[in-house]
Amino acid sequence: MRLGVVMGTGHGTAGATGRLVEDLVERMRREGPVEVGSVATDDLGLGPSCPACLSCMTEGEQACPSYDRAAPARTVMDEADLVLFATPVHSFHVSATMKRFVDHFAYLIHRPAYVGKPAALLSTAAGAGHDAALGYLQTAVRRWGFHTVGQLGVNGPGLAKAPYRAKVDAALDELASSLRAAATDPVEPRPTTADLIGFRVARLLVEGGREEGPVDAAYWHERGWFDADWFSDAPVPRVPNRIAAMVEKKIRKGIAEGSAKPYRG
Ligand SMILES: Cc1cc2nc3c(=O)[nH]c(=O)nc-3n(C[C@H](O)[C@H](O)[C@H](O)COP(=O)(O)O)c2cc1C
Repeated sequence: MRLGVVMGTGHGTAGATGRLVEDLVERMRREGPVEVGSVATDDLGLGPSCPACLSCMTEGEQACPSYDRAAPARTVMDEADLVLFATPVHSFHVSATMKRFVDHFAYLIHRPAYVGKPAALLSTAAGAGHDAALGYLQTAVRRWGFHTVGQLGVNGPGLAKAPYRAKVDAALDELASSLRAAATDPVEPRPTTADLIGFRVARLLVEGGREEGPVDAAYWHERGWFDADWFSDAPVPRVPNRIAAMVEKKIRKGIAEGSAKPYRG
């Protein structure tokens, strides 16, 4: 199997996140060969912030000033059977370069490329913040099409204590087996209500951007998504799909009439 690794730290295998990834890969290899393609978000040189020119959406990703620099990451994700996103927790979130990486690929929200491909998530921290960091990553890559099949958050300093280390080892064993199974025989999960709403919101974005550029709309047209309820032929659950249709109607009304309310928490 081919594993893609996107590492949100510059510490490599000398750091806690890199060591955790190595521990996981070593376990996966016990069950058979694993070819690893890896990229560190610190090394991509994407700069401090996305230039926000939106050319990736209107003209295509090749028009992005960072296209060449981010290309190795795209190759790693494209060639993998399963992609592992690993990040240290920084201030209760993903690292800044991991966030920058996610921002670079924002066009994948409009033009999902990984429907049916499994992903796994890892985080390391000194103590807290796995929930926000991993929750964010799960939502972000879901919008690109990935479905998360496993995740693990580990506190680096805790590994010095044998009972905690034993629990982490057990979790790594379990994760390694489930990732191998998911990569070898990927099963796309039934779309949830949130997924189906996400599909309809993406369609709204694409429709709304038609006049700025034809790229997104052409992508959707080619795939027949304008006339679909979901990105693939997987069966769509009836009730969640009806709820998603109602939400879409409300959003469309809010946009058309300006009746949407500002967010107040
Ligand atoms: C800028 C910065 C912010 C951090 N914020 C948190 C945090 O919010 N919660 C936490 O538990 N650890 C935090 N940490 C600790 C790191 O998450 C932890 O050391 C991590 O395992 C480092 O992984 P690495 O060696 O792979 O880079 C922070 C570290 C840095 C450098």
